[in-house]
Amino acid sequence: MKRIVIVSDLQMPLEHKAANRNLINFIHDYQPDEVINIGDITDYTAPGRWSAGKRAEYGMSVKEEAGYTVANHVRPLRKGYDKKVTLLGSNHGERPHKYLVERCPAMYDEVIFQEPHLLRLDEFGIDFEPLKYDFAPGWTATHGHAKGISLSRFAGGTAMNAARKFQKNVVCGHTHRAGIISESSGEFAARQLTGVEVGCLMDIKKASYLGAAGFGNWQLAFGLFYVNGNRVSPSIIDVERDGSFMVEGEVYGSVKRNALGRFVSSAT
Ligand SMILES: [Fe+2]
Ligand SMILES: [Fe+2]
Repeated sequence: MKRIVIVSDLQMPLEHKAANRNLINFIHDYQPDEVINIGDITDYTAPGRWSAGKRAEYGMSVKEEAGYTVANHVRPLRKGYDKKVTLLGSNHGERPHKYLVERCPAMYDEVIFQEPHLLRLDEFGIDFEPLKYDFAPGWTATHGHAKGISLSRFAGGTAMNAARKFQKNVVCGHTHRAGIISESSGEFAARQLTGVEVGCLMDIKKASYLGAAGFGNWQLAFGLFYVNGNRVSPSIIDVERDGSFMVEGEVYGSVKRNALGRFVSSAT
């Protein structure tokens, strides 16, 4: 049986730091057969529409943010994990290149501001899939931002919309929501389509565009898929607000307290 970890929307450097650290420790410990990062791994704040005309646009932070992602996620992940890792294209991943094409076409370069180059994916042996990736029988992974995928406010609904479009089971990110929805059709419900959204690992307090109170229908989570031949079983691993989580009964990252409520140690 294969075990595949699917991670989305770290939005580095706006990631939930403890969740990122615990996730990397978990992957080193659990040694899944494959890791799929489904996109928005880096936020690239400067070339975003929320920054247009504001101070942030002039922050010249694209390379700095890419360097931060390499230093705090890609390199540490690779230190203890050498199996297959795939990154998918996403709206935030496309930001620097799109900005250059739309706002500064005279400086266009085919490679330099593309995400695989910014994150040095070749050097770290990470595959890149710009739109979608068929990772298991009957299943495709896609970020969720592509044209023609209508967004739903219900967790899992956007992935279900994508599943209807592709006529395949879909796992996606982008919405920052975590949920699984299935839909059956045909005689005796013979045909089933499933959509999975794996949540995000961004620190909601750092999403300045949500306003001071940080209202957003977002969930901290990631995905874990079990694949045995043609059988595929999706699951969502909920991440607590302190960045800890539990997989197969094992807790990663929780802070232990004694009977008096005092901190005694950190699990990771
Ligand atoms: Fe995102
Ligand atoms: Fe996205």
